[in-house]
Amino acid sequence: MSQPVASPALEPAPPRHVAIIMDGNGRWAKARGLPRNLGHRQGVDAVREVVRACRGLGIQYLTLYAFSSENWKRPQTEVAGLMDLLRLYIRRELNELASAGVRIRVIGDRSRLAADIIELIAEAENRTAENRILTLVIALSYGGQDEIVSACRRIAERVAAGTLDPDRIDADIVAANLHTTGIPDPDLVIRTSGEQRLSNFLLWQSAYSELIFVDKLWPDFGQSDLAAAVGEFQRRDRRYGGSGD
Ligand code: FPP
Repeated sequence: MSQPVASPALEPAPPRHVAIIMDGNGRWAKARGLPRNLGHRQGVDAVREVVRACRGLGIQYLTLYAFSSENWKRPQTEVAGLMDLLRLYIRRELNELASAGVRIRVIGDRSRLAADIIELIAEAENRTAENRILTLVIALSYGGQDEIVSACRRIAERVAAGTLDPDRIDADIVAANLHTTGIPDPDLVIRTSGEQRLSNFLLWQSAYSELIFVDKLWPDFGQSDLAAAVGEFQRRDRRYGGSGD
């Protein structure tokens, strides 16, 4: 009689969507006696490495918190430096990202951005709209509370116009009115630099995300750190409020 073939233990699935709060650029620069903007510049190298690592780790969506709605309060030179880095990143990387099958989406309040950045974003989104290997979501001038407030406003307008019955408002309708419509909620949110808070990032969408806080500063974060976070995620038991039995 032939022996039953033991089926290999099923490996837990990798996170489909990873969202990252890239924190610690300023401290990285300060530790070296450099201006803060050099820390951000070094942070772009980490962005490049992490974007490239996603495919091999089975990640299909990557959201990066590049500039929060609160970051407008930083000194004008730092804001201008960050905007320059975003321009450079999109201009320099667009060809490579487009041919690697990366779709680019930008979430946040575009009305505060310079006209040329708005144009560049539209070009990047349009050129990569059909790509499906990885969706790279850049959160720019983004705040989770603002996003929920504008969703409420849009829903209230439909109620006031008589096209939506308030009894029909549910989580799906709210989610459909967020900037992230069509993007699955993040399975894993990573924050670097040792700080342990969400800082207004994907507040609605992270309701059931696993959170991983990494002590490294963002410019020091790389492929092996992302792989380690994915491994830790795969060892976690996600219950979504259920008992797990
Ligand atoms: C937080 O570090 C980081 C930011 C506010 C900006 C992140 C931006 C980049 C990594 C570069 C541009 C991004 C892309 C997608 C091309 P911090 O300045 O608050 O650091 P600190 O807490 O040590 O001061």
